[in-house]
Amino acid sequence: MTLNTTTHRNSGTRRRGRRVLPTLAILGATLLTGCQPVTQSLSIGDMASAYNREIWWMSIWAIALSIIIFIGVSYALFYTVQKFREDRHDAPPAQFHGNNKLETILVAVPVVIVILLSVLAVKSMAALNPTPNQATKIDVLAKQFWWNFAYPEVTSDAGGVVTNGNEMIMPTREAVALTMTSGDVIHGFWAPNIGGQRAAMPSVQKTWQVDTDRAGVYQGNCSQLCGASHANMRYKVIALDQERYDATLAAMKAYRAPEPAPGSAEARGYTLFMQGKGSTGAASCASCHRVQGTPAAGVVGPDLSFFGTRRTLGAGMWEAMTEAQWTDAKAAGELRDWLKNSPRVKPGSLMPTYDGSEYMVKGKMVKGGTLTDAEIDDIAAYLRSLKLPEEADYWKGTAVHGAPNGGTQ
Ligand code: CUA
Repeated sequence: MTLNTTTHRNSGTRRRGRRVLPTLAILGATLLTGCQPVTQSLSIGDMASAYNREIWWMSIWAIALSIIIFIGVSYALFYTVQKFREDRHDAPPAQFHGNNKLETILVAVPVVIVILLSVLAVKSMAALNPTPNQATKIDVLAKQFWWNFAYPEVTSDAGGVVTNGNEMIMPTREAVALTMTSGDVIHGFWAPNIGGQRAAMPSVQKTWQVDTDRAGVYQGNCSQLCGASHANMRYKVIALDQERYDATLAAMKAYRAPEPAPGSAEARGYTLFMQGKGSTGAASCASCHRVQGTPAAGVVGPDLSFFGTRRTLGAGMWEAMTEAQWTDAKAAGELRDWLKNSPRVKPGSLMPTYDGSEYMVKGKMVKGGTLTDAEIDDIAAYLRSLKLPEEADYWKGTAVHGAPNGGTQ
């Protein structure tokens, strides 16, 4: 008997082993090729958010009510079937037409149930919808396929509203009022750790509040199918405790893009960024992007003011969990590929190409300009130099929740 059991158990292990091996092989291949972008996971029902707690308790009450109804209806059904079972085939069943008492009960009970469920829903809506005046305000702009997060109450010393592309910084332990809109099609703002999801619609502005008690980096995705790179339309939410949040926003307000030293790679990159290269048809970056404290004020693409501090590229297509990863050779290669021909690495990207290949402008294919590899690297060097002061680096020491490495930095 014992021997048999052991044999069975062993064969079971072998069977499992055969299934595990291909999985391990795929996993290994993924790790070895390294081309798989690291992705942080979304967490629904994160209890660090008052928004999620409200939804959770509403659900618990609604489910409890449903269970009571289920038990009640089941009991009534079985009781009736049992008690009024047809055991003689002669008499017609008793009719209750005109039984006012019974009919009143049959109307009243569902009405009470609907009222109870409505009260639950309306109570939660009332708790979640108001945006108190003292809440931090963030304007969210969604576009194919990126995000801008602007702080309408924080005007930078260099002019313009403080804005960050694809990385949203918010304070912890207070309601944050997000006013959402879209620059083209309907997108969906979905960062479940800090609250539910909302549509970002063109020419409509909707305000909605989110919150979290726990500082950290959270993942956000676009949740509305919006085009070729819908799945590549990601962002980060960086929640900072009040003091650090205030310091970071103050640094952003005071920030002016550093002026590159004459003759440096950054200086050459700056010139290309601002002017492009007329002789080869390379478009200027500044006509589409803003960099705070420089003449670059474009609003067609995401704000690049703090690009060097950010750790995501291409709206979260590539992400680095550490500063070393953000600046290592792999990341440098990704940035180079991105700058050369963004639509090739991100389908549907509207950025011009700089390797001479064709790209789409308003539905028509046009030929892109060209820059040499050295010139591309100069622009990359300039972008990397767009950094907040060290103490305002909002990534540094901030826990990354739901990251594959457990969020250690
Ligand atoms: Cu934007 Cu999906």
